[in-house]
Amino acid sequence: MKASAPGKIILFGEHAVVYSRPALAVPVTQVHVDVEVVDSPRKGIWIHAPVIDLHAELTTLPSDHPVASVILKLFQFFDISQTPDLKIDISSTIPVAAGLGSGAAVSVALVRALAPHVAYPLTNRQVNELVYEIEKLHHGTPSGIDNTVITYNMPVYFIKGQPIETFKTGKPFTVVVGDTGVPALTIESVGDVRRLWLRDTNHFENIFNEIAQISLIARRSIESGKPELLGELMDHNHALLQEMTVSSPELDKLVTAAKDAGALGAKLSGGGRGGNMIALVEQARAESVASVLISAGAKRTIITEIG
Ligand code: MEV
Repeated sequence: MKASAPGKIILFGEHAVVYSRPALAVPVTQVHVDVEVVDSPRKGIWIHAPVIDLHAELTTLPSDHPVASVILKLFQFFDISQTPDLKIDISSTIPVAAGLGSGAAVSVALVRALAPHVAYPLTNRQVNELVYEIEKLHHGTPSGIDNTVITYNMPVYFIKGQPIETFKTGKPFTVVVGDTGVPALTIESVGDVRRLWLRDTNHFENIFNEIAQISLIARRSIESGKPELLGELMDHNHALLQEMTVSSPELDKLVTAAKDAGALGAKLSGGGRGGNMIALVEQARAESVASVLISAGAKRTIITEIG
């Protein structure tokens, strides 16, 4: 059984989404995780994930290992105690710890490939709920936006704990993703924001409210076919993320470089501190903005068309 899952970017609202404000995220299908599960003549469940240099039998891994925890959770879900002999191959083109949702994508693809092999296929809703449980094990207090956008493989307007809303794009638009190459753990930036929020709740609540407004206006602009309005909203959202201390010199450098190269707006995307930034560009300028980002230190870029 084979399954795959895309990467994702957050267009607006990261961090504020953890505090129940709306955020917008879209799948990035240029990068993906692919999983294949086959019966094996060898005893045990052998996992091969060359990108993270993992070649191991399930029982030799700690139960909180990102891959092992998915398998164990799924067996628990199906009440399977007698585990089958399997070979699981995981390959991925999603950079790790870069804000593109690689962890959630591994979990989604693994659940989708393994469930029908050991029992029966799960619905999107079941996959999403299961992967959210896994995300909570590894990310502390995740909003659930990553697993949702990756499971449904559709643009989402996400509010924690509320039914999933997708949105349509009135007119397609182009985004360049620039990766700082600096690995950053979302759990850390989310934890730092929580400490600052506890210390200065009013100030942070005001920032989150401003971001909520940005997400709302952004959704309307996208739906009404005016994506060019997103540029200014991205700049504003980035300034608020800087105020929340989750940007970094590398991210700010790429944001400035993109703007200087003619991007309509730019911001960090995801947990911050490292990982990715995104820039809204006219399609004809996408290649030149991408090459300016590389000159400014980006380790890789992805040009993605939304809508
Ligand atoms: C990470 O992709 C987005 C954050 O808002 C964390 C979350 O929503 O769980 C930083």
